[in-house]
Amino acid sequence: MTPRTEEAGSSGLASALVEAGALTSDWLPTFKAVPRELFVPDRIWPGIADGTRQATLVDRAKDADAWFQAVYSDIPLTTQWDDGQHAGDGLGVTPTSSSSMPRMVFSMLADLGVQEGHRVLEIGTGTGWNAGLLSHRLGGANVVSVEYDEDVAKDAGENLRGADLSPLVIVGDGRSGHAGGSPYDRVIATCSVGEVPRTWIEQTCPGGVIVAPWGTEYGGEHIVRLVVGADSTASGPFTRSSAFMRLRQQRTERPPFSAYFNGRKWPAGGARSTTALSPADIGGWLQQFVIGLLLPGAFWRVERYDDGSYTLWTYSTDTESWASADYVPKADRYEVVQSGPRNLWDETEGAYRWWEEQGRPGFERFGLTVDGDGERVWLDSPYRPVPIRNP
Ligand SMILES: C[S@@+](CC[C@H](N)C(=O)[O-])C[C@H]1O[C@@H](n2cnc3c(N)ncnc32)[C@H](O)[C@@H]1O
Repeated sequence: MTPRTEEAGSSGLASALVEAGALTSDWLPTFKAVPRELFVPDRIWPGIADGTRQATLVDRAKDADAWFQAVYSDIPLTTQWDDGQHAGDGLGVTPTSSSSMPRMVFSMLADLGVQEGHRVLEIGTGTGWNAGLLSHRLGGANVVSVEYDEDVAKDAGENLRGADLSPLVIVGDGRSGHAGGSPYDRVIATCSVGEVPRTWIEQTCPGGVIVAPWGTEYGGEHIVRLVVGADSTASGPFTRSSAFMRLRQQRTERPPFSAYFNGRKWPAGGARSTTALSPADIGGWLQQFVIGLLLPGAFWRVERYDDGSYTLWTYSTDTESWASADYVPKADRYEVVQSGPRNLWDETEGAYRWWEEQGRPGFERFGLTVDGDGERVWLDSPYRPVPIRNP
């Protein structure tokens, strides 16, 4: 591909991001000055537009056109699988490092609201592109980026040097932030959390902002924008949906089917009932977000059949409880089986009904507060916490 075409790819992506409202005018010169291609390794697995799957390997050495096309598309690019344990050209099990989707990168930077002179802490250096963008805007001396994976951090350092940018890249567990560079005006995490580490709040100035992808075990992750108070609390609204890789230390194993059934066959003595709530009505990203808020310690899987029907399984992470709900196309009632101390389908239905009673609020009406008592998600105001059912 000729440089002219690369330039066209870059300006095509810029236009698409501007049109989507992600790339704001204050970031445009930086977008142009810090090209994504300088941060993307030769071997990548491009994401598919809906963000849920990966395409096969694109190797710059074998197909430079496909590589440039991927780099200048609004898609995430997986750069590492399985914490670096995966070798070869195929897909690994879990993507563990990437160049995030450009639309998400610039939307989060817009949420961050940096101003000249701000000091920023980033958690999850990855390829270094985001740290590079921040360094171009604020000066490398004002940017600290923490990456847990040593090899990933080393490559990011090389990429940044190659782009003539010099933030401080630290190898370490981002949950501890980097006290040496604090206090920060802004903290941005580019891996998701289920719990905001207190250190991020402690290392941020009063009035400072923390932008992080936040999600429960159940799913439906969203970006939260917290403003730090004078009393080491932080609070603020969710701003957009997201699908980031989890912070390594907050990943949880999903127990296998066998852990719940101990060799027994479904329905394994579970209580049978039927429901008018279609499992298809609760699968959307927003519904998952809401149900996850009200069902701590629960997750789901879907088992699909050839005729278009499927079973929605809900499990408690402690392996004590499970529920199955059978979706059949065009049915008006659906079979349910529940087992264990938690009636997980009843809880799911209760969460969905609660959401309906509130007028089916979108994510933008929810927010998060973190203080000495822990974390609470609220609806409309920090004084209206979401009524979490204790398992
Ligand atoms: C989506 S990638 C980051 C993308 C990156 N900001 C960029 O511009 O390319 C997420 C990164 O978070 C890192 N990570 C996961 N857990 C971490 C932790 N506890 N501390 C620091 N980094 C972590 C992963 O190794 C991975 O590189």
